[in-house]
Amino acid sequence: MPKYAALLPHMLHGCDYNPEQWMYDPAILRQDIEHMKEAHINCVSLGIFAWAALEPKEGEYHLDWLAEVIDNLYQNGIYTVLATPSGARPAWMAKKYPEVLRTGADRVRALMGGRHNHCYTSPVYREKVRAINTQLAARFAKHPGVILWHISNEIQGECHCELCQAAFRAWLREKYGTLEKLNHEWWTMFWSHTYSDWDEIESPSWRGETNVHGLNLDWKRFVSHQTAEFFRNEIEPLKAANPAIPVTTNFMGFHDSFDYYKLLPLLDVVSWDSYPTWHNSTDGNEMYNALWSDAYSDICRSMLGKPFLLMENTPSQTNWHEVCRPKHPGILRLTSITKLAHGADSIQYFQWRQSRGCSEKFHGAVMTHANRTDTRVFREVSSVGTMLEKLDRLCGAKTKAKAAILFDTENGWAIRDAKGPRNQDMGYQELFFRFYEPLWKAGIPVDIVNADMDFSGYHLLCVPMLYLLRGDTAKRIADFTKQGGTVILTMHTGLVNENDLCYMGDTPAEGLAEVAGVRLLEMDPLYDNQHETMRITRTPFPMAESYRCGKLCERISAEGAEVLAVYETDSPVLPDNMPCLTKNEFGRGTAYYVAAFAEHRFFSDLLLSLAERLGIAPVLDTTLPEGVTASARMAEGGEMFWFLMNWTAEQKSVNLPFPLRDFESGRSYQNVIPLAPYGAKILVKAE
Ligand code: GLA
Ligand code: ZN
Repeated sequence: MPKYAALLPHMLHGCDYNPEQWMYDPAILRQDIEHMKEAHINCVSLGIFAWAALEPKEGEYHLDWLAEVIDNLYQNGIYTVLATPSGARPAWMAKKYPEVLRTGADRVRALMGGRHNHCYTSPVYREKVRAINTQLAARFAKHPGVILWHISNEIQGECHCELCQAAFRAWLREKYGTLEKLNHEWWTMFWSHTYSDWDEIESPSWRGETNVHGLNLDWKRFVSHQTAEFFRNEIEPLKAANPAIPVTTNFMGFHDSFDYYKLLPLLDVVSWDSYPTWHNSTDGNEMYNALWSDAYSDICRSMLGKPFLLMENTPSQTNWHEVCRPKHPGILRLTSITKLAHGADSIQYFQWRQSRGCSEKFHGAVMTHANRTDTRVFREVSSVGTMLEKLDRLCGAKTKAKAAILFDTENGWAIRDAKGPRNQDMGYQELFFRFYEPLWKAGIPVDIVNADMDFSGYHLLCVPMLYLLRGDTAKRIADFTKQGGTVILTMHTGLVNENDLCYMGDTPAEGLAEVAGVRLLEMDPLYDNQHETMRITRTPFPMAESYRCGKLCERISAEGAEVLAVYETDSPVLPDNMPCLTKNEFGRGTAYYVAAFAEHRFFSDLLLSLAERLGIAPVLDTTLPEGVTASARMAEGGEMFWFLMNWTAEQKSVNLPFPLRDFESGRSYQNVIPLAPYGAKILVKAE
């Protein structure tokens, strides 16, 4: 059981709550509690950005108001997710200690303002954070109403101040030992960028150095390290006061200003904030918004191998999309169910009450300025709460995936930074989605792992564009295959080492050429309007005759691998009959190599055929209608929950392989289950 579920064996239904903005009107705060109960809210996130209210003057801590709020909530059955306030700081601090403010890559220090505007190296800032966190912990770490620490808020970004430069140099000394080694690993003889003193090293900046790729990569690694150290400083006083209270911080989908995976050893539970642009299509099909957000849920679920929390989503609209459309009737329920389906143990909102002023005054909230509960949004929130109250048994339920996709932050940075072979977008994320989408559409559970995570237990491992190889990843891929796994490698794999130096000799490097039984001859990147054709010559399973490919086509030679498809082209670089898709038996396993950035249909055909051969089954043995997704979780004791989501404006029906019962209504369905437009169902086995 995850720790938070042990503390509160219910699905969390909560919201960000900023009572500090409403202290002038105690009636509002009293009302809030009554209205929260009406909305079936069982937890709130308190204290986010509340530093000015908690420490209005240096060293003067005002925690009584917070204690009163936490007590009142608790007495009314509402738990607290307590935030540390480091995401934004009081003006007095910025004035007195300018070093707490962030310095940009242009070496200009920011003025007081905004949020996430701090230096994570500054000893003063770390000390101030530690001091306020110590106060919060002393007062609340043993409060029965406090169930979770929420560290800062959407931690992100980098600082280039002198303190950070010094820390960066120290980090580099630790990593490389000698300047000679660093100069070699960064290849600094290029353009005469050789360093002769550690103090000459500066973080990357458009005003100075951006061309030393090893520097760029190490800088991002340093930012990740420093963020994790800042984080450790935040949690030490909290854990010292009560190690039983778990710790989380809210991630932003696919955000990579630092490497989230470096925080995982410090987190008890992963949480994320989900804000897709619902209703941005012309045909009412929400599939592509769902694809993106379900993929990120699967990333979060895979990070610690257990359920995550949905820390934020809007009950209606945001205020920062290009056009801030409110969720249409029923969409909140549908999007809540898809989060549960992909591993969430909570549905939480930003926010309870719309602020009256400043930049979020028009952001959606459960309570709007009208201050009424008889609104559509309030009713929808409340009915999500009622649904969650029935789902205690789902808390902590696991997803069992036999297939995994390797998607790695550092690899993404390196591909983006590489200068060539395409500077228009190499499409790393796009290729990831070509693998994810067909599995998702078929209802096949998939984990998403980074290059450091253990993937030995899967049956199928998809490895899009693993350009950068670090540590023993290549060896683990080889072992995985040798021991009977099926791996799919693609173009643009195994080209640089962990410091972004190109491998000498044959690639894919580090033994991956042997695993795949192929060797790279040339890369042929294409403009977006150019295409090549892949012609299937023989496959062990049904595929179409040919597929379109674009973006990046590799000319490879088969060195022992069986050729399953070839190019059919006029290109002199990729003459006809050069291999394009290969298969290699390696040890007890099999490696496929996809040399060209092929169209969606290719990945769908390949993956679904492979899944079938490998016994990787969808959660329901049925063909899902277009626009419907399915997922499942297994609760403690083996009870299965299935989820069906209809992302279209049309009525759909799903053929059932066995009778299922609607968990909410109790109604059983023998052969077919209807799904209303944008409908979603939570199902269990019918007796
Ligand atoms: C983020 C933040 C919140 C709020 C919302 C608005 O997720 O964490 O504080 O600003 O965005 O959508
Ligand atoms: Zn700094």
